[in-house]
Amino acid sequence: MDPFLRKLGIELPIIQAPMAGVSTPEMAAAVSNAGGLGSIGVAAVDAETTKRMIAAVRDRTDRPFNVNVFCHRPAVANAVREASWLARLGPEFARYGAKPPARLTEIYQSFLTDDAKLAVLVAERPAVVSFHFGLPARERIEVLRAAGIVLLATATNLEEGKAIAAAGIDAIVAQGYEAGGHRGVFDPDAPDDRLGTMALTRLLVTRLGVPVIAAGGIMDGAGVTAALALGAVAAQLGTAFVACPESSADAGYRAALLGPSAEHTVMTAAISGRPARCLANRFTALGAGVARGAVPDYPIAYDAAKALHAAAKAAGGFGYGAQWAGQGAPLARAMPAAELVARLRSEMEQAWADRLPG
Ligand SMILES: Cc1cc2nc3c(=O)[nH]c(=O)nc-3n(C[C@H](O)[C@H](O)[C@H](O)COP(=O)(O)O)c2cc1C
Repeated sequence: MDPFLRKLGIELPIIQAPMAGVSTPEMAAAVSNAGGLGSIGVAAVDAETTKRMIAAVRDRTDRPFNVNVFCHRPAVANAVREASWLARLGPEFARYGAKPPARLTEIYQSFLTDDAKLAVLVAERPAVVSFHFGLPARERIEVLRAAGIVLLATATNLEEGKAIAAAGIDAIVAQGYEAGGHRGVFDPDAPDDRLGTMALTRLLVTRLGVPVIAAGGIMDGAGVTAALALGAVAAQLGTAFVACPESSADAGYRAALLGPSAEHTVMTAAISGRPARCLANRFTALGAGVARGAVPDYPIAYDAAKALHAAAKAAGGFGYGAQWAGQGAPLARAMPAAELVARLRSEMEQAWADRLPG
């Protein structure tokens, strides 16, 4: 077995991606019990809820699991931009007989400044903690490492990978442009080379002496096998788990993912204020006509998006949801998470067998 998987304490090279607001403790525990690494995303909840979610995973498994936090720079408020964004969204709210909120707030605190969440992680000591959108300060990394926690961080290019390796993080999640959900770019305003999973994984594997986990567009055992052939120690799958019964995706999101609209995904910053890949819907269409500078900072813009989605949903519309999904979305399967992991395992065995001579 790969030494990194041994270090993680998992049997299979399969990580269920942390998905804030979509993955659940039930999902994480089911995946870990099936031999993969389950994850919970706690970026959108406070320290107290993080503690409760960790306990909920532990009620269901004694295997290792991952807890994921967001390390974005705290939002920069801009009252003029926020007011004009709300005015821009006004007609969309009006379709549902609703009005935009009077003002927007920074709905999630970044892990960079969240001492209470850090204290919970240090006290609870999940086997793994992962960072998205950058890295926390060195002292925070050291305190987590001293607690015996294995650390992962997302890179979307070589420069970010180098920063992660230099910080002594245990493994790098190579997130290709195909990936569903938020792009883990450290600086959302920097130019983006939009590297795909295959090129990025190879680049990080060959240039950095740190284990690499491939993420983006991997939906089945053949995809996991391909990631391993590229030199990755494991694959991280998000979209593949969204339609599982353990996910908290709503009915509209599930229907869109399992229907023809899954064939079209769009990278948009209009929903949250940071680029994220979403099923094509009313919100991504609206975003296509909007200049990047018009959208409030992350996660202030997300406050408006959530209000619009709630207004539409109350009137039976699902077109404004943050329906995050990767380019492999049409390959999503609706089955219990443990069954999906077992299926991935048998597909991996088949993929190897098909390619071995004799
Ligand atoms: C619904 C959804 C939510 C996500 N939320 C998070 C998150 O909270 N933290 C994180 O590090 N990555 C998040 N991601 C990105 C995943 O970690 C991973 O990079 C991505 O799912 C891989 O691409 P795939 O969706 O094609 O498998 C999310 C992805 C999806 C689909």
